[in-house]
Amino acid sequence: MSDVKTKLTKPRKPKDQVFRDPQSVTDFEFGEQVASVFDDMLDRSVPFYQEIQRMIAEMATDFATAGSNVYDLGCSTGNTLVNLDAAAGESVKLIGVDYSEDMLKRCRQKLADSGFKHKHELICADLNRGVHIENASMAVMVLTLQFVRPLYRDTLTKSILQGLNENGCLILVEKVLGEDSVFNRLFIKYYYDLKKRHGYNELEIAQKREALENVLVPYKLPENREMLLRAGFRYCEVFFKWYNFCGIVALK
Ligand SMILES: C[S@@+](CC[C@H](N)C(=O)[O-])C[C@H]1O[C@@H](n2cnc3c(N)ncnc32)[C@H](O)[C@@H]1O
Repeated sequence: MSDVKTKLTKPRKPKDQVFRDPQSVTDFEFGEQVASVFDDMLDRSVPFYQEIQRMIAEMATDFATAGSNVYDLGCSTGNTLVNLDAAAGESVKLIGVDYSEDMLKRCRQKLADSGFKHKHELICADLNRGVHIENASMAVMVLTLQFVRPLYRDTLTKSILQGLNENGCLILVEKVLGEDSVFNRLFIKYYYDLKKRHGYNELEIAQKREALENVLVPYKLPENREMLLRAGFRYCEVFFKWYNFCGIVALK
């Protein structure tokens, strides 16, 4: 039985107040302002974020094979990489990809602060242009595919499949649309209630929703599943579900 604990550092995280003041809302960007408070934003905006991280690290103990590469696509400030560092065998190389230099700067710092042990590489690249991965036993995309333009998602998932070794896996965590409009509406309400419980006010929630409107494009869970099967993955299994959030593990 594996006993994987997350290795997220516990220093005080700067508080996310990006949407606190009334503002003329523009499209959400992963720039310096968001990067500087991103860890707090994740903790307060993503249901069961720490448990999802723990589960990914747990799966890495079985999927990350000796001498292979493990990719974190959309690595942001490096939380997943730090947890993979604690879980993966020592001959595994960990590779983070993100198109935001502001995120990667914080990621580099976090890896250094955590005493990161594994061979690693951080790559600045736009996933809308696809991705080159090789000798991969595992690829992880936590809340990132939803920001890739729908037009490019099939190409991206196919290129991930190509770079995975046999029996390698893709772990995909996404915000999803409810399959039925009644549940979709309710799930969004329950999600905003979670954000209120985590200290966001109505204005912050409304302004962030507007900023994300054309930037975060969620699919329904079956649409994500069909996309993965279309790309050529053999199996897809849901390992996490909370209202309008889901985690899928797909096997090559
Ligand atoms: C919600 S965050 C991911 C959170 C992170 N995976 C975690 O578990 O903590 C989305 C990340 O994807 C990156 N991103 C969004 N679109 C991207 C693209 N087209 N290419 C590369 N990175 C992208 C953003 O810069 C951001 O860091």
